[in-house]
Amino acid sequence: MNRMMGWLLPVLLFVNPMVNAGAAWAQESVQVASPDGRNVVRVEIQDGGLFYGLERDGRKVILPSRLGFDLGADAPLRDDLDFVGTERHSRDETWEQPWGEVASVRDHHNELRVSVVETVTPGRRFDVVFRIFDDGLGFRYELPQQSALQSFEIMNELTEFYLADDARAWWIPAGDGSRYELLYSSSPVSMVPTVHTPLTMELRDGLHVVIHEANLVDYAGMNLTGSRDRKLRVSLPAWADGVKVRGSTPFQTPWRTIQVADRAADLNPSVLGLNLNPPSVLDDLSWIEPMKYVGIWWGMHIRTMTWNSGPEHGATTETAKRYIDFAAENGFGGVLVEGWNLGWDGQWQRNADLFSFTESYPDYDLEAVAAYARAKGVGLIGHNETSMGIENYERQLEGAFGLYNRLGIGAVKTGYVGDLTADGHAHHGQFMVRHWRKVLESAGRHHIMVNVHEPIKDTGERRTYPNMMSREGARGQEYNAWAGDGGNPPEHETILFFTRLVGSPMDFTPGVFDILIASSDGTPRPPEAARVRTTLAKQLALYVVIYSPLQMAADLPQNYEGEPAFQFIRDVPVDWERTEVLSGKIGDYVVVARQERGGPDWYVGAITDEEARTLEVPLDFLDEGRDYMAEIYSDGLGADWLDDPFPVSILRRPVNAGTTLTLSLAPGGGQAIRIRPARE
Ligand code: NOJ
Ligand code: CA
Repeated sequence: MNRMMGWLLPVLLFVNPMVNAGAAWAQESVQVASPDGRNVVRVEIQDGGLFYGLERDGRKVILPSRLGFDLGADAPLRDDLDFVGTERHSRDETWEQPWGEVASVRDHHNELRVSVVETVTPGRRFDVVFRIFDDGLGFRYELPQQSALQSFEIMNELTEFYLADDARAWWIPAGDGSRYELLYSSSPVSMVPTVHTPLTMELRDGLHVVIHEANLVDYAGMNLTGSRDRKLRVSLPAWADGVKVRGSTPFQTPWRTIQVADRAADLNPSVLGLNLNPPSVLDDLSWIEPMKYVGIWWGMHIRTMTWNSGPEHGATTETAKRYIDFAAENGFGGVLVEGWNLGWDGQWQRNADLFSFTESYPDYDLEAVAAYARAKGVGLIGHNETSMGIENYERQLEGAFGLYNRLGIGAVKTGYVGDLTADGHAHHGQFMVRHWRKVLESAGRHHIMVNVHEPIKDTGERRTYPNMMSREGARGQEYNAWAGDGGNPPEHETILFFTRLVGSPMDFTPGVFDILIASSDGTPRPPEAARVRTTLAKQLALYVVIYSPLQMAADLPQNYEGEPAFQFIRDVPVDWERTEVLSGKIGDYVVVARQERGGPDWYVGAITDEEARTLEVPLDFLDEGRDYMAEIYSDGLGADWLDDPFPVSILRRPVNAGTTLTLSLAPGGGQAIRIRPARE
């Protein structure tokens, strides 16, 4: 104990007992506020444990919540703690995104570093760093190098989020095996099981809170386990042997983030996570280019083509050239080709060790297709489905990416269908997090953009690796081709926008025009089969609502032929200067306006759930005093997702900053609008 006295003395210098005299707070506490003063975090020691809490405008949001680790064989890093010091910093700077949903991002925060030590043997030390912004906070653990704590195994992270209110939460369940491709449920926070983040909640007074993480590097992804007492506890997916995280000091965890917003519409776009990631490590970004793309893809999902070899093989030289022609004619930057490589025959989901990432099927001439694409000014998007055969993929990674680079294939879509690795490591555990970082680094070296399916969730890595373009990580359009439950319900995207899509692009693959999905001979499927459960106008609106720097026109090219509504997909940009969420309610509707990057045009997308809705949309984001022309694609007469999804009315009308548009959305419908300066 004696040797601790030196540590304890400085405590008196920074602890001000007067500040925190409330009953819920112990005497020894420190606090830090957001630049606008509305968010206040207090950190305190209670009975030797370290706790933090959050208040906004003086009302409690997160009650004192425990911090620490269960280190398995070693004693937990949790008890007999005392403060040994604090450090404060502030930052206010604005940085530019190379591409994104907004061009510039302001990082304005106050930082508090709290250092603690065990007052008993072994006397281990650690810091918790808090960064408080106007839109929320992040905190992370930092374990300095020290003889008392060298290498360690985390069996459990003890971080809690103790909700002051039994908020309503929108969640998808998590487990070692399960991915994110699930429909959302909602319940009071006291009823949530183990769930994924981002976890979005609405408190009874209307405040919205999202718990998530940022800068997930060399750690396990964070899940949250609920309890009846409203304490959400971190739970981490494991290595095959049950260990959650292996590390050695010096060590940092990812940031745990708590985003706050006064209304749902202020949740998205969120830059909190981006601000908590390091700047780009790639110097030359000239090869990174957001784009729209088409692909040999939907045909496999609706079973008119196959990935594997045979008479219906989708990836043939001829078909690829046809898609390249279509992309070139319509100004799309890329063509995805799935099923081009050896390994798909048989049950491809079980072919983890069989995939080649360099050799193509005989009816697909990789070199010739790549040369054809280059000549037409179209990029090819390579496809690497791993079926969770990580070793097989890592063995081929450098060779494959080197080959793609030589052929001018500037983007790769990867895939991780399967729950665990062959060796039994969790899909979102530390092993896989390391793998994904390795792929990103290798792709960066070979000038390849990455679009991950069955990914780990987005924690802002695109700031550090701007070749991390998009990812799936939710139920996307593909479920409308084959889901046993009939496809995504009309409310799906109105929930996604406020949950999965907060702060993260998604390769949802919008734009299916053949909503009822005709079979290969043209007959519609039986009514109980899966289908798209939106109107056609809503498919257009999704290009504005769902942000993705790689944005697909998912349908078969022939389904766009002669369709006037296709013009919107040709026009809509994939890179934005500004994003304004005009209104919205989780699970009901949302209206989003985005201004194209480097140009004056604005685009508006509005979507609704199964309810028809009329929404008033003031265009006050337009330049004052400027005349514009709006091209409006709305649900046509009698449109309804269930009975008649196809009618789209297209009209033009002059608008300006003083105009308020009245948007009529059909059940399961939407509206897409391009607004450009009128010719002066
Ligand atoms: C699932 C992906 O989400 C889908 O896009 C892809 O076509 C298949 N896996 C095959 O890799
Ligand atoms: Ca998928």
